Amino acid sequence: MARNDLPPDPKGSEITSQEAYKYRRTFLKQAGLFAGTSALWGGGLIALSSRGQADPPPAPPPVPRADSVSGDAWKNVRRPTPYDTSEDKTAFDDVTTYNNFYELGLGKADPARNAETLKPRPWTVKIGGEVEKSVEVDVDELTKRFGLEERIYRMRCVEAWSMVIPWVGFPLAKLVKWARPTSRAKFVLMKTLFDPEQLPGQRRSVLDWPYVEGLRIDEAVNPLTLMAVGLYGAPLLGQNGAPLRLVVPWKYGFKGVKSITQIWFTDRMPRNTWRVANGREYGFYANVNPEVPHPRWSQATERRIGTVGRIDTQMFNGYGEYVADMYAGMDLKKNF
Ligand code: MTE
Repeated sequence: MARNDLPPDPKGSEITSQEAYKYRRTFLKQAGLFAGTSALWGGGLIALSSRGQADPPPAPPPVPRADSVSGDAWKNVRRPTPYDTSEDKTAFDDVTTYNNFYELGLGKADPARNAETLKPRPWTVKIGGEVEKSVEVDVDELTKRFGLEERIYRMRCVEAWSMVIPWVGFPLAKLVKWARPTSRAKFVLMKTLFDPEQLPGQRRSVLDWPYVEGLRIDEAVNPLTLMAVGLYGAPLLGQNGAPLRLVVPWKYGFKGVKSITQIWFTDRMPRNTWRVANGREYGFYANVNPEVPHPRWSQATERRIGTVGRIDTQMFNGYGEYVADMYAGMDLKKNF
């Protein structure tokens, strides 16, 4: 059976040229994913980029028009909701030019520069696995069916920077209910589009493509969990994971898989990409936790993009009242 019981993807080896293979060896070695030299690297997930290095940030992209995609849901975005933070929002320019999307480049400014290869419409999402009936559905059908709301959430990256982002999306709970999972479904996993033409970074075997993330079912139906299709009142840009990405605000940002084409229900814990790459540094749960340092950096404080100085990191990124119960009795140091 293929990994996670999903339809098979082209194997990494089928798309990895000799040159890319060599690059990967060097890259992973440098990045500390290979030889346990990770202590040498302090900055990013694989520590190649941080703001202020090398290239200047690209010019901010124009705000896309909400009516450029299937109208009605976008005319009636519900706001405010009880889950919104009143903290200052991070500037649109920062949210859309300081990104992690390795399929579009490894530097923070690369995804914005390279996003034009990604074509977010038309876009089909496959929903299957442990469900009563598998479906393939257009992303705009989903927004029409479930409606849209704005959620102003903190986002905390494992690299110890954070933002406040006004997302637009629908609760994943609505999709889960609609998908009618069977009683065997204990987890849901999501995969990014696999298409090296649209996501050229997939030609380099930096990670095991396509990017996979997952949640326990109770996490998936938690009212905070959002399938985002937009931010700042407009459809998502490629660099932020157009046209559909996951937002789980009490977890580190790497759980927020971008440009999703598959949603799969399963009885087994998904092998999420960063855990596969380096299980010592990245876990499945990835709950924001100032008490559990990452092997290469403390998680006690964070840098809020667009502000000066550091702020204390909050347990569950400040969303404990909504989510702490789900982890009662669990050792969060072990289940990191
Ligand atoms: N999804 C895919 N497919 N590829 C990625 O490299 N990076 C993750 C996550 N989702 C990533 C991804 C990480 S590490 C973070 S912090 C967030 O996306 C960043 O989201 P943003 O760029 O919209 O702020």
